[in-house]
Amino acid sequence: MITGPRTGPLDDDQLLEAYPWPDRERPWVRAMMVTTLDGAAAGPDGLSGSISSSVDKSVFDAVRRLADAVLVGAGTIRTERYGPMRGKPADAERRALAGQAAAPVVVIVSGSLDLDWHDRLFTESTMRPLVITGSQADRGRLDHAGEHCDVVVTDTESVDPATVLEVLEQRGLRRIVCEGGPTLLESFVAAGLLDEADITISPTFAGTAQTPRTSGLDRIVGFELQHVLHAESFLMARYLRSAAA
Ligand SMILES: NC(=O)c1ccc[n+]([C@@H]2O[C@H](COP(=O)([O-])OP(=O)(O)OC[C@H]3O[C@@H](n4cnc5c(N)ncnc54)[C@H](OP(=O)(O)O)[C@@H]3O)[C@@H](O)[C@H]2O)c1
Repeated sequence: MITGPRTGPLDDDQLLEAYPWPDRERPWVRAMMVTTLDGAAAGPDGLSGSISSSVDKSVFDAVRRLADAVLVGAGTIRTERYGPMRGKPADAERRALAGQAAAPVVVIVSGSLDLDWHDRLFTESTMRPLVITGSQADRGRLDHAGEHCDVVVTDTESVDPATVLEVLEQRGLRRIVCEGGPTLLESFVAAGLLDEADITISPTFAGTAQTPRTSGLDRIVGFELQHVLHAESFLMARYLRSAAA
């Protein structure tokens, strides 16, 4: 049976409740991404903001509110120029009671360490960002990176998603929002480590020229719908990985 989407306005706290974190000791990884009707991850300017909107941003903010870590690939940091994370004053007590820092830590996966250390993310974050890189990282760049963030070098040339989660778990970071981009996200799906997909469908076509090609998965990975919210022709869907996946 096909049913219509849920209706009725949600305030910020109801939005937060619509994206609960499970109460478990192991990491939980949720993707937060926006896609156009034709599958683009960015608009003609190469940025996701041009296919997003204030309603998508509200969900994006809600999903971050009680997160321990915001996990991104270096490509996203280079294009989207993240600023420092700031916790909402309204969440301070709740986060502190749960043993969380005031705001999520930004965790970046990068092989090249080609990052702009002058970005506000590195100069203004109260919690040092964490960069996870592979065994072939350039020595000079590693030293330089260490001046601006915490750095973890893994044993393998390509950073293994399971290792990322081990590193985060060792730091007590279990509620992970993976904000992409497509390359990093695909590696988590391929490794069977994506638990939840919070995907906004933008009512736009943008073409995929600005969307990076990924290497592709060997098999499709299924997710089950939990809810669809909608506003201003945007659909905000929450999926959990199917038990069969
Ligand atoms: N629609 C959305 O919601 C959304 C979200 C995020 C990003 N985007 C868009 O997506 C585009 C960027 O996409 P992308 O796929 O290139 O971004 P990405 O996944 O953020 O970054 C790819 C880079 O991350 C590093 N990386 C990823 N996996 C790695 C691994 N296993 N080991 C070592 N390094 C690894 C590498 O960095 P190095 O090159 O430094 O080695 C790689 O080049 C931008 O246009 C951005 O605006 C859209």
